[in-house]
Amino acid sequence: MPAASSVEIRKVNKYFGPFHALKNIDLTIPPGKVTCLIGPSGSGKSTLLRCINFLEEYDSGEVRIDGQLIGYEAPGRKMSGRKLREMRRSIGMVFQQFNLWPHMSAMENVAEGLIRVRGMSKSEAGRRAAEALAKVGLADKMANHPSRLSGGQQQRVAIARAVAMEPKLMLFDEPTSALDPELVGEVLNVMKALAGEGMTMAVVTHEMGFAAHVADQVVFMEEGEVVGVDSPSRILHHPQDARIRSFLRTYRERNSF
Ligand SMILES: Nc1ncnc2c1ncn2[C@@H]1O[C@H](COP(=O)(O)OP(=O)(O)OP(=O)(O)O)[C@@H](O)[C@H]1O
Ligand SMILES: [Mg+2]
Repeated sequence: MPAASSVEIRKVNKYFGPFHALKNIDLTIPPGKVTCLIGPSGSGKSTLLRCINFLEEYDSGEVRIDGQLIGYEAPGRKMSGRKLREMRRSIGMVFQQFNLWPHMSAMENVAEGLIRVRGMSKSEAGRRAAEALAKVGLADKMANHPSRLSGGQQQRVAIARAVAMEPKLMLFDEPTSALDPELVGEVLNVMKALAGEGMTMAVVTHEMGFAAHVADQVVFMEEGEVVGVDSPSRILHHPQDARIRSFLRTYRERNSF
């Protein structure tokens, strides 16, 4: 079991042109814990998550993974592509869209990165891919192409693909939002099992049940700011901030939570 990373975000600002998308964000994502990011659409959740692996370039402040600055060598001086790729090797990401190769089997989708990025032999990558697929409950679907898998199964292949690289940190951006409601549970269960293994996870989600039952801390964002960071029970059941109360009221009107 690989060690779990911690993430320190300090005074991070991000602009899209004149638009201030992230405003002085301070946040610690502790190792081996699950941090859920919630908040209204457009509040900056995806942007913040993408700053953690520098898929989105923040303009000022610092993001550190295990103490090491990502994206910059020093303030204002970009890190080389090679160094950035090296740092990203310990970070897995799962998106709303599964991004699987349509012409490859589940097994080949998982093995591809191990062969190309890790330089593993085909047989070693195959063994590792089989293990990862078994872990997400797809031992019997390894030969299927994505077109012969349900959405929930495809997303589990995407999770297996990330996990097979043995990341120390997993980022999830609304991993169940593209799924039919009846398929959401199987993906959340796989994530819950990963959390149980002590993986550091940052999860942007609209699934308040997952945040309530699996998260160690919940971060509420609105208009580019972190409005609250607390335990799930305090944020979801005893929110101090009126903006959080208002968000949850609307959510409860639409969902059985
Ligand atoms: N590439 C971009 N160019 C310009 N504006 C952007 C870009 N990406 C995001 N934004 C803006 O930044 C804000 C935050 O976007 P972000 O995608 O982080 O929100 P979010 O909280 O993830 O929302 P959702 O719940 O809808 O996914 C939004 O107002 C969005 O329109
Ligand atoms: Mg988003």
